[in-house]
Amino acid sequence: MVVVRCYSPIKCLILPKTKPLTMTEKEKIDQLRVELHRHNHNYYVLNAPEISDHEFDKMMRELQDLENKYPEYKDDNSPTMRVGSDLNKNFIQIPHKYPMLSLSNTYSETEVTEFYERVRKSLNEDFELCCEMKYDGTSISLTYVDGKLIQAVTRGDGIVGDDVTDNVKTIRSIPLVLNGNNYPKEFEIRGEILMPWTVFEQLNQEREAREEPLFANPRNAASGTLKLQNSSIVASRKLDAYLYYLLGDNLPCDGHYENLKEAEKWGFKISDVTRKCKTLPEVFEFINYWDIERKNLPVATDGIVLKVNSMRQQKNLGYTAKSPRWAIAYKFQAEQALTRLNAVTYQVGRTGAVTPVANLEPVQLSGTIVKRASLHNADIIEGLDLHIGDMVYVEKGGEIIPKITGVDKDARLLIGDKVKFITNCPECGSKLIRYEGEAAFYCPNETACPPQIKGKIEHFISRKAMNIDNLGPETIDLFYRLGLIHDTADLYALTIDDIKGLERMGEKSAENIIKGIEQSKQIPYERVLFALGIRFVGETVAKKVAKAFPSIEELEQANLEKLIQVDEIGEKIAQSIILYFANEKNKALIERLKAAGVQMKAEEIDTSDHTTKLEGQSIVISGVFTHHSRDEYKELIEKHGGKNVGSISSKTSFILAGENMGPSKLEKAQKLGIQIMNEDEFLALIQ
Ligand code: IVH
Repeated sequence: MVVVRCYSPIKCLILPKTKPLTMTEKEKIDQLRVELHRHNHNYYVLNAPEISDHEFDKMMRELQDLENKYPEYKDDNSPTMRVGSDLNKNFIQIPHKYPMLSLSNTYSETEVTEFYERVRKSLNEDFELCCEMKYDGTSISLTYVDGKLIQAVTRGDGIVGDDVTDNVKTIRSIPLVLNGNNYPKEFEIRGEILMPWTVFEQLNQEREAREEPLFANPRNAASGTLKLQNSSIVASRKLDAYLYYLLGDNLPCDGHYENLKEAEKWGFKISDVTRKCKTLPEVFEFINYWDIERKNLPVATDGIVLKVNSMRQQKNLGYTAKSPRWAIAYKFQAEQALTRLNAVTYQVGRTGAVTPVANLEPVQLSGTIVKRASLHNADIIEGLDLHIGDMVYVEKGGEIIPKITGVDKDARLLIGDKVKFITNCPECGSKLIRYEGEAAFYCPNETACPPQIKGKIEHFISRKAMNIDNLGPETIDLFYRLGLIHDTADLYALTIDDIKGLERMGEKSAENIIKGIEQSKQIPYERVLFALGIRFVGETVAKKVAKAFPSIEELEQANLEKLIQVDEIGEKIAQSIILYFANEKNKALIERLKAAGVQMKAEEIDTSDHTTKLEGQSIVISGVFTHHSRDEYKELIEKHGGKNVGSISSKTSFILAGENMGPSKLEKAQKLGIQIMNEDEFLALIQ
């Protein structure tokens, strides 16, 4: 026997002596793939690495080099696919072979008992319940054929989902190639894609440093990541996946639990806290234990799922229109903490909105220490009948900032001062105002209240607005304090000499800032409109406004009537735009920005291929298409003068329907006698 190249200290590859000493390149590639798949599984599924990260990276690089050298040996399931690619893609929609249903939910133990009793009566025989964690991420359906991952599709609307295969391939705990040989030739496995707490916290820290919006929770972070267009960024986000449901014709066992145990051997990450229970007390023991212990799990969970274990019995129990009768999700109450309210302070945002903030005695809640909580507005404070010194309940909802949900009035020994919303701005002293129909109080001193000025400049430079690199709130604050800037237009008058040598500012940083400001002059008009920070003019509205009024002069002159003609612009937005331009200071600011070279009109677009073939027509798009994506069809409709509408009504001109048009849409269209056009007919129409 001859031992050739040994990557792992435990399993070395032993080849018979008859084999030539040097491997062919193809054999080397195959060997590296097998080894890397195994080390991936050891590290990401079993949490038991056998080699160092450095050795792993070295092997990966070697494989990558060989694959680059011999592209004829390319394999879509090679471990190198884990690094993702920079190519941009739009997701293709794929119909689910089996619809992705949801689970019926409950917060009540009584309803769990009722579920158990219902199952017992319906089955009229012994049964077991499989108790699992309810993972709080984003669901995924994976299809394997001949032991290879061929497709990964999101839940979508349960009937069709997005094909996110390339992104999913970067998740190291999802096997690309299965182990063993007793898996069905073709099957689906469903589970949850999750961002572990540690990764989530680090990602948000990085985003905070780059002044990007934070993810509210790991669920949003996981689903946002999965839908990224660039799979190499997905790869860097270190997602994880737990699988909990097998579907297919030839599954190895009748028991759901036993099938998952098999799937574990094939390489999937299956939760090891799953347990089979026969009686209700056992079920409640599981629920109560994990309600507390889940805080020590590496990923977010929000409840327990109970599933009838036998697939035969599941079949007998069947489904309602929305969910299986053989399963239920018991959701945990949001975690609460009780702590003392020390003070209420007030923050003024860039729009002048004043937000009350509760300053709390620090308390531990869902893994972090909470010192502050949002009180939202004056009405909430009044509704809580809040007094300083009160013991208050704090809860973490879907948002990052916790909120106060109640007061323990029994704990009031000495009643402190009742919390009364302030009447004047804490920053500039102006009298606060409340707009009709709004809960918030505002400081009206838009152009001279410091946090409003700084907030407006911070918004102006942010990534989705003028995207001025190397500038952040601290630098803005510094420039403002030193009197270098008073508004956004002042940025364009800054020079390297003005800022180099300031606190923590070397020549290079100063150069980069000025360069970033200069480059922002290329930012298109629609983003400039967003950057101006006109109330209610967010990114989407700014796009619509820019399209309807392609220059700032046209927008400035638009009256209410003209403004509300624009799609999605109602009276509230229109009034806000009019109010903005009625202020001479704003008009002067725009003039200065224009003089500095900021884009104040839309770029000319090539309309040579535009027609009026669909003019006056309201068109609904439904289903899955082959020749173009939905977005491309939307663009085509607009190019030819038509209007995209979301729902079917008697005003709909026709429906552009692909495969699998939703049954309710079809029924409605037939009822209203609306024409249904397929892709080819549509393309012929606009040709
Ligand atoms: S089973 C037919 N098991 O909860 C039911 N779902 O509302 C198939 N989820 O969309 C789902 N943990 O994303 C199942 N252990 C678990 C789960 C789980 C989380 C999610 C899943 C699903 C939602 C159901």
